[in-house]
Amino acid sequence: MPPSPAPTTASPVRIGTPLSPGATRVLLLGAGELGKEVIIALQRLGVEVIAADRYANAPGQQVAHRAHVLNMADPLALRALIEKERPHLVVPEIEAIATEALLQVERDGLATVIPSARAAHLTMNREGIRRLAAEELGLPTSPYRFASSLAEVEAAVDAVGLPCLIKPVMSSSGKGQSKVERREELAEAWQYANAGGRVSLGRVIVEGLVDFDYEITLLTVRARGAAGPIETHFCEPIGHLQVHGDYVESWQPQPMSAPAAAAARQYARQVTASLGGLGIFGVELFVKGDHVWFSEVSPRPHDTGLVTLASQWQSEFELHARALLGLPVDPRLRNPGASRVIYGGVDAGGIVFDGVDQALRIEGVDLRLFGKPESFVRRRMGVALAHGADVAQARQRASAAAAAVRPRPAG
Ligand SMILES: Nc1ncnc2c1ncn2[C@@H]1O[C@H](COP(=O)(O)OP(=O)(O)OP(=O)(O)O)[C@@H](O)[C@H]1O
Ligand SMILES: [Mg+2]
Repeated sequence: MPPSPAPTTASPVRIGTPLSPGATRVLLLGAGELGKEVIIALQRLGVEVIAADRYANAPGQQVAHRAHVLNMADPLALRALIEKERPHLVVPEIEAIATEALLQVERDGLATVIPSARAAHLTMNREGIRRLAAEELGLPTSPYRFASSLAEVEAAVDAVGLPCLIKPVMSSSGKGQSKVERREELAEAWQYANAGGRVSLGRVIVEGLVDFDYEITLLTVRARGAAGPIETHFCEPIGHLQVHGDYVESWQPQPMSAPAAAAARQYARQVTASLGGLGIFGVELFVKGDHVWFSEVSPRPHDTGLVTLASQWQSEFELHARALLGLPVDPRLRNPGASRVIYGGVDAGGIVFDGVDQALRIEGVDLRLFGKPESFVRRRMGVALAHGADVAQARQRASAAAAAVRPRPAG
């Protein structure tokens, strides 16, 4: 095997030729719409890309050099894939991965995990990242308790108060989450969390509700500096709207007071420095006036950051690709932008999209249709993107474009 071209502070990246013995190989663990854009960015830089997902023809697999279908939560299957493909870099795109296997891969010097196996491991479980942020780093968060039984949930509510949110420790996109206003609802919320989590661990976080004015994703990039050591860069804040814990609309830049912007950057710097490694992070923060609370962080591109395809010189996907290769990044805004999710609206395989031409006739609009083989009513099948003179115009254009695209069953 050739020497690893993985970037370190001591040595710059070495990019070879794909499909040749000197190729720089990157394995994406998860090949959804976010992975697809990372893969395209890597392909443009001459990287050989392997895309793994739990089902065939996932969006990113359609644009990769090779594809594998496996259960990435299975440590043996994951290890076997890494030994077979011998990637230089392993890039998790989703949370549900056997992160113990990644910790071992890193210990064995088999591959470099982006941004680090520790980051993937700590952030896949709400308990790992919350305890790190609140208890080790001392960042302000919502009041919280962890609970493993209904009795513990009730005790947790005594501590954090009502209303509160109950979330499985392992879940994303709002799955298994409920808002509880009255004590009588606790048993149902506890049951729902146990049924809705990715892996039923029988453990939840009980969080007090933060009464925020707005919430942001602060995309934070750790990239190798010209002199070697890693430098931290910040994108302009992204504002977003969530419905049932799932993002429906995002825009950039989100205006913030100077003290709130400074606090947001400070918290993002602290948490990403602690997680370590190279790449982009989506730091989720709540803001009220000058006050900022840390919520959670993705050690990878963030769904609300799809807007950067329309608003930055380098999208969050290009920033991730460059940073993980040890290359320089430019996180600057190009113009105000917005994104609006296009849901499937139907449960069907092989759907078709009507109205694409009408959507693209709107000034400043672009689309991404992800190519997912199967549509569900609430599955994200595409996104409308728009730039504008200001955020209001960009949002209006993106919303009009998303409404114009009408998915339907084929035939
Ligand atoms: N403590 C809280 N107070 C107020 N709102 C909250 C709180 N926790 C979560 N929310 C709201 O619910 C949304 C989803 O919560 P969270 O990010 O924890 O869930 P998730 O399932 O990890 O979602 P995703 O994976 O899409 O980021 C947040 O973006 C916010 O709008
Ligand atoms: Mg979130």
